[in-house]
Amino acid sequence: MKKITIAIDGYSSTGKSTLAKELAKHLGYIFVDTGAMYRAVTLFALDNKFIKQDFFDQKALIENLPNINLEFQFNKDFGFAEMFLNGDNVEKQIRTIQVSSYVSQVATISEVREKLVEQQQEMGKNKGIVMDGRDIGTVVFPNAELKIFMTASAQTRAQRRFDELQSKGDEVTFEEVLKNVQDRDFIDTNRLDSPLKKAEDAIEIDNSNLSRKEQYNIVLEIIQELL
Ligand code: DC
Repeated sequence: MKKITIAIDGYSSTGKSTLAKELAKHLGYIFVDTGAMYRAVTLFALDNKFIKQDFFDQKALIENLPNINLEFQFNKDFGFAEMFLNGDNVEKQIRTIQVSSYVSQVATISEVREKLVEQQQEMGKNKGIVMDGRDIGTVVFPNAELKIFMTASAQTRAQRRFDELQSKGDEVTFEEVLKNVQDRDFIDTNRLDSPLKKAEDAIEIDNSNLSRKEQYNIVLEIIQELL
């Protein structure tokens, strides 16, 4: 059967990765969560004190980019690939509110984007891939056969992220999470390099009032027609 490239972009906490993961499993495709890569670079910057409370040494991070090795390793038990930063499994550390609050700033740096986009294009060179992020349909794979653009209200998205963080025992308030979602929306859509925007040929899905299953079925139907 012919293999295609599926690009899923959209705002934070719209369930992009969940959808991408389910589609990849069904199709036997590779799944790549590119947000995890930007998060891992942010964790590296925090660990090395390039980022402190009100200070971000972007120059030091750029100089150290060659020292950052990112790798996805498939975890059989979970059924998806986990993020490894310089050999360490950082899947848990990259999902904290601390990393979330700096990652959009890190993602504005062109040198960071250039490094990650190159790695992403390499991972998808043989197609058979579902990749989610902010610039997949516009920059990473502009020729992808299927582009999905996901949206939902900020309230809905913050509630989802809040529930997820709470279930992990993270002590955050709903207001903190909502502010983080709104701040990231602003930075992601207004940055100069590869801002978040719907590709002209992308199919937009607002899932504020859709269940996970309903959304999955809509996209699966589109894919079946394409294949
Ligand atoms: O999908 P996520 O919330 O894990 O992404 C974290 C941040 O990384 C997001 O605020 C913007 C950035 N990002 C990006 O700029 N480009 C991508 N392809 C993926 C994520």
